[in-house]
Amino acid sequence: MPSPTWFERTALKSEYAIDFNRPALIGNELAYITEAVQRLQISGDGYYTRRCHALLEAALGVPKVFLTTSCTHALEMAALLLNIQPGDEVIVPAFTFVSTVNAFVLRGARPVFIDIRPDTLNMDEALLEGLVSERTRAILPVHYAGVGCEMDTILDVAGRHGIPVVEDDAHGLFGSYKGKTLGTFGCLATLSFHETKNISCGEGGALLVNDPALIERAEIIREKGTNRSRFFRGQVDKYTWVDIGSSYLPSDILAAFLFAQLEVREEIQRRRQCVWETYQTGLSSWAAQQDVRLPSIPDYCQQPYHMFYMILPTLEIRQALIAHLKKQGIQSVFHYLPLNLSDMGRHFGGKPGDCPVTEAISDRLLRLPFHAHLEQADQERVIAAVQAFEF
Ligand SMILES: Cc1ncc(COP(=O)(O)O)c(C=O)c1O
Repeated sequence: MPSPTWFERTALKSEYAIDFNRPALIGNELAYITEAVQRLQISGDGYYTRRCHALLEAALGVPKVFLTTSCTHALEMAALLLNIQPGDEVIVPAFTFVSTVNAFVLRGARPVFIDIRPDTLNMDEALLEGLVSERTRAILPVHYAGVGCEMDTILDVAGRHGIPVVEDDAHGLFGSYKGKTLGTFGCLATLSFHETKNISCGEGGALLVNDPALIERAEIIREKGTNRSRFFRGQVDKYTWVDIGSSYLPSDILAAFLFAQLEVREEIQRRRQCVWETYQTGLSSWAAQQDVRLPSIPDYCQQPYHMFYMILPTLEIRQALIAHLKKQGIQSVFHYLPLNLSDMGRHFGGKPGDCPVTEAISDRLLRLPFHAHLEQADQERVIAAVQAFEF
């Protein structure tokens, strides 16, 4: 059985001495995969999937969790559950991953892009009311870097207009806003277990169902539009096609890997907190002198330490810093491009100037190496390299 030492050695084959990301491997991931295979049930909804569901439901306080093959697929399930139809509008931040909106566009929705706040880079809740129309069918807050959106205002606007809220919580597992867990505000929320996330299984996700009225249909949509799960529970004597749906179940092999990660979540989160705080302490006075902005976390938000970013004065400086770090074997990366200016965004009428904060921040944001295996000495190299950068 390969050991974590094997993992460390293998990872050293990377092009970079210090990678931007490495998946965590500190629990029983490989042992559980072997066990899942030995159980001879490696399709979806097996032993480990059930354990992941139970653990997440208890840890998050969510009535029903469904593992999915990705966060993208959990978002697609949300669009199906909300019966999104051609011509419906969804309000989505321009600064997010394409899946937040594409899942709804697949059902025929038209995206209405909302700009972000310059501090947290979350949906600017002050703009929300002005974008609501009689065709708005969903509001899609994204908790960027796992820092909670202004949910009080968002839920107030949504509630007054009767619009469902779907939280894209791809970054925010185990974060909270004003003491309430992220992913428990909307009628639905989605998680990602992609390799780049704190807790991962390579590719994976989950749909969190907070509205009990949506649970039964979610189960059907996830099982190709059939009532197969009811059949396996002995609630019907045969299973059949009862609704639209698709195949959104991950293999139990992936769930085994994921369950091992969830078991050691406190250790993963502790290590990531340490990495985040080391960057914050090491870079804050340099950043203040250089007019560089570091993440801003409101004191009522508990962040899950998903990423550490810097906002540099210009695009040219950001690109030069990426190149400077690369020369020293350090991988740093930018993040989302404004969706309103993408080819698809323009197709829906997006144009420069629609979302000025998104457009300005997107060019200047840089993310530093961040993962649970990042050694203190390597982090110090990153900090020293950033501080040595002249601009
Ligand atoms: C905000 C957000 N939503 C959704 C996704 C899609 O996640 P997945 O790769 O699990 O489909 C991502 C990907 O990183 C993301 O950043």
